[in-house]
Amino acid sequence: MSVSTESLTQLFPPDAAAIPEAWRLPAPLHQRQYLLDGALHEWTGPVQEVISPLFERQADGSLQPRVIGSYPLCDEAEARKALDAAVRAYNHGRGEWPMMSVAERIAAVEKFTRLIVARKQEIVQLLLWEIGKSAADSNKEFDRTIDYIRNTIDALKDIDRDSSRFTIEEGIIGQIRSSPLGVVLCMGPFNYPLNETFCMLIPALLMGNTVLFKPPKHGTLLHFPLLQAFIDAFPRGVVNTVYGRGSTVVPALMASGQIDALGLIGSSRVADSLKKMHPKSNRLRAILGLDAKNAAIIMPDADLAVAVQESLLGALSFNGQRCTALKIFLVHERIADEFVRRLAVEINKLKPGMPWDAGVNITPLPEPQKPTYLAEIIADAEAHGARVMNEGGGTAAGPLVFPALLYPVQAGMKVWREEQFGPVVPVARFAQTEEAIQYLIDSDHGQQVSIFGTDSQEVADLIDQLVNQVSRVNLNAQCQRGPDTFPFTGRKDSAEGTLSVFDALRSFSIRTVVATKMTEANKHLLNAIVDGQESSFLSTRFIL
Ligand code: G3H
Repeated sequence: MSVSTESLTQLFPPDAAAIPEAWRLPAPLHQRQYLLDGALHEWTGPVQEVISPLFERQADGSLQPRVIGSYPLCDEAEARKALDAAVRAYNHGRGEWPMMSVAERIAAVEKFTRLIVARKQEIVQLLLWEIGKSAADSNKEFDRTIDYIRNTIDALKDIDRDSSRFTIEEGIIGQIRSSPLGVVLCMGPFNYPLNETFCMLIPALLMGNTVLFKPPKHGTLLHFPLLQAFIDAFPRGVVNTVYGRGSTVVPALMASGQIDALGLIGSSRVADSLKKMHPKSNRLRAILGLDAKNAAIIMPDADLAVAVQESLLGALSFNGQRCTALKIFLVHERIADEFVRRLAVEINKLKPGMPWDAGVNITPLPEPQKPTYLAEIIADAEAHGARVMNEGGGTAAGPLVFPALLYPVQAGMKVWREEQFGPVVPVARFAQTEEAIQYLIDSDHGQQVSIFGTDSQEVADLIDQLVNQVSRVNLNAQCQRGPDTFPFTGRKDSAEGTLSVFDALRSFSIRTVVATKMTEANKHLLNAIVDGQESSFLSTRFIL
């Protein structure tokens, strides 16, 4: 298909009949309830309209934004009530939830999982409509989240089994376990609104914390079907929602000093300012997944077929809206022209369309200002000497933007350093490998890198230098977070703390020891507590 604004416009549905039945929204969802202290409360104040990026095509060919619902724009007072509920439920670590045994907490999370699996269809449908993620990827996000929860439960059982023994060292006997941190504020991103929120929220809950949960700006309504499940599965006040503009509801929470851990996947600018609002910085644990500008370094002897295929996936899966996306390509000058030629061909095989279209690759973008921003960075690169190398690259119809391959990109262009988080693929040339390494050294980000090459010595040299710049070096493969058992973190402005099935359990807890000198009296005391099953913490019971 040749790409033009008209051809892209034609991809939007003119009416409901053009939408497959399985993906038709039954009616707009005007959410007025929010979860506070174990009950759904009615909100009568201002609301935020939710506009789907899946616009409606009009008879005159224009595209009309489609309102698919609205949600409460709660105020600071409401946010404080949510905080009070979470603080009460934690009760300085003496609440029902933090005092519960690990096995009981696991049972509650298992119940929650059963309840949300039953609501999969509604959740996935809202996910697709709110952020324009393809049907296949929306389903995948849901399934991956459920797998993540189940794997996290298994990891916690393993940790608990390992901790159920006593350690004896230097005449001291102790039991080492993990305890909750307190009240956790969880804020997920719009690109994985379900998965990345739950990658923090579930481990935080399993470790005995109470939670304030603020849904992302886009990808909010899909959490509504989950609210009743939170009520049914957890004690009162353990999970509370905070709906509203971040700038209205979050500062007061941080300034209260009562947030013990901030779990945020979003921008480093926001994370930085929120951390500074906390009056007792040493008391705040931050687990952050932030900006990234992952580079691909393509060596002269790279297998170009592999490099092009992985680059395509790395740069443009979900329209490039992944923190792990490849956001700049540094290609050896000997093969740069050929790499660009082949990549342009592959980009133009991608299928733009609506998320329910079979085999669709490029879908409308949920951030309203993003198409304008992308046009600006493309124009800026062109003004500084780059060209759009693929036919129709950068063409837009409303929120649908066809990917632009920019070449040759160089320092001084916006796209050289800015995280585009969208379908723009910048390619730069290098003559000496040192130039590519220097790019990473000078970067504010340090999440991942991809190296494409076949010379073992050269690849080994690059590995040894780049492992001290980023947190994951991918060989002849795109950057990615998975498998979810691998540690996911970053250096510099890209992350704080580590997330993974296992690491997140550590991140949202603190190692705690009960220890005593090995005297006869103390041995007798420990045996009495353990034999009589008198303590939840000090125990040798196994979770099977
Ligand atoms: O947005 C950032 C995500 O953590 C990326 O995850 O590599 O699985 O797409 P992914």
